[in-house]
Parts: sequence; structure tokens; C-alpha cells
Amino acid sequence: MKFDKKTVVITGAGSGIGRACALEFAQQGATTVIADINFESAEETVSMIKKRSGVAHAVKTDVSDPESVKGLVDFTLKINGEIHVLVNNAGIQINKTVELTGFEEWNKQMSINVGGVFLCSKFFLPHLKKTKGNIVSMSSMNGFFAEPDCAGYCATKAAIIGLTRAMAIDHGHEGIRVNCICPGYIDTGLAEGYFQSQPDPAQSRKDAGKLHALWRIGKPEEVARVVTFLASDHASFVTGSAYIVDGGFGSGLPPK
Ligand SMILES: NC(=O)c1ccc[n+]([C@@H]2O[C@H](COP(=O)([O-])OP(=O)(O)OC[C@H]3O[C@@H](n4cnc5c(N)ncnc54)[C@H](O)[C@@H]3O)[C@@H](O)[C@H]2O)c1
Repeated sequence: MKFDKKTVVITGAGSGIGRACALEFAQQGATTVIADINFESAEETVSMIKKRSGVAHAVKTDVSDPESVKGLVDFTLKINGEIHVLVNNAGIQINKTVELTGFEEWNKQMSINVGGVFLCSKFFLPHLKKTKGNIVSMSSMNGFFAEPDCAGYCATKAAIIGLTRAMAIDHGHEGIRVNCICPGYIDTGLAEGYFQSQPDPAQSRKDAGKLHALWRIGKPEEVARVVTFLASDHASFVTGSAYIVDGGFGSGLPPK
């Protein structure tokens, strides 16, 4: 299997896309580290993986807190002594315009979505250098296209694309690849939160599907399969990329 003898850390793996990534990596032979601020949900992911005979360990982590991220690094290295793949997936979405976003909300979203990528990458990079490992971070099609009522979120996702390119340039010569993924709408709690913030949530959910060429929103496992591809040796010449997994977002006009 592709990830036999590999240790993979996935942040925000207690639900949604992160959980699907963890299941996919474990299915492909990886030892997975399930890092989430919600320890109970991280443990649920672990038990799902163990039921399928995979290997997983849960650890409570707040990606916006340097001490917590250092704890994640120590926890990971105690398992097999090394790390091969870091998936920076944890994220939140505050569904507000700039005018309505509070200063604390702005800082919180920035420090989880962008600060989390910075801190986890910073503290795992010395160890990724030893294995010539790689990083995959979760951006969004909102890194390219803005949508109403989530201004700060769009800013964080564009920042992840910039950070990905910069880290790829700084660390490519050390054999480290750094990529990010830009999903369209994916059926998770985070997307549901956005629908619920709109005046007619049911209609908003329905309309969201039609924003995509495929006329539907995506499933977490459809993103996870691309994450494992990017993290694998099959993508050995892919770095600095913002890999689009969006079902053709923005081209979903009704057929003539
Ligand atoms: N669902 C979508 O439509 C969509 C589209 C594009 C990008 N994304 C991105 O995918 C990623 C995963 O989102 P999702 O849709 O699976 O949402 P989700 O809410 O299901 O999962 C997010 C996970 O992150 C965890 N988390 C939140 N704050 C954390 C922190 N400080 N430290 C550690 N863990 C924390 C949560 O507990 C949760 O388990 C996010 O970065 C999101 O921005 C989602």
C-alpha cells in the first residue's frame, strides 16, 4: 500500500473532510494521528479506523496555540519516531461581512485557518526534512472566488494559497513538497453552517449544488482521495500547487 510505514498527521480530523482524509490514509496503510480540538470526535474517528483494521491515535490539539502544536509534534514522534505527511485541514468559517465581523472573530478565524497552517508547518518542518515528507493544506475555491457573507474566511483561504507557494519555494531544495487543495462546496458541518446563515437555508443548499458544473456539492471522500494522491509519490513533481477539487465551481450555468 502507498502509505505503509508512513506516519500521517491530519488536523481537524474529528469530522468532515479531515475525517475522510484520515480514513483514506489509514485504508492505504498509514499510521494516522487524528488531531482535533474536539477530543471526543477525534476518538470517534480513531474507532472508525480501528474497526476497519487501520492504525490511528487521537490527540487533542488547538492548531492556533503554539504550545498545543508542540505537544502534537511530541505525541507524533513518540509513535514511530518520524512523520512523513502533514495535512493542515483544521478550519472554521465565520459567515459575516467585514462590517459585521468582530475583531475577536477576525483574529480567531485568522489564527486557526492561517495561523494553524503556519504553526503546524513550522514545528513539523524540521522532522519532515528528515523523511523528505510533504505538506497538504486545505484552502478552498474561496481562495480564488469570493462569496457573500464570509469575507474573513475568503481572506484566510487566499492566504493559505500564498503560504503554500512560499513554503514550496523555501523547502523544495530540501526535498519537501508543499501543496494545497481548493475544494468547492463539500457536504460537511462547515458548509451546513453557511447554508444556515443564509435567509433561506434549504434554497441556499439547493442553489449551491447548481454553482458547480456537476450540479451537486461534493462528498468529503472526493476531496480525501485527492489529498492522498498529492501526498503520495505519484505526485512527486507536484509542488506549490493549489489543486482544484470543485466539481467545476463557477461554471454551473443551466444547460441551454
Ligand atoms: N465543507 C466545505 O464546503 C469546504 C470547502 C472548502 C474548504 N473547506 C475546508 O476544509 C477544512 C475542513 O472543513 P470541513 O468542511 O470538514 O468542516 P468541519 O467543521 O466538519 O471540520 C473542521 C474540523 O476542524 C476542527 N477544528 C476547529 N478548530 C480547530 C482548532 N483550533 N484546532 C484543531 N482543530 C480544530 C473541528 O473540531 C472539526 O473537527 C476546513 O479548512 C475548511 O475551510 C471546506
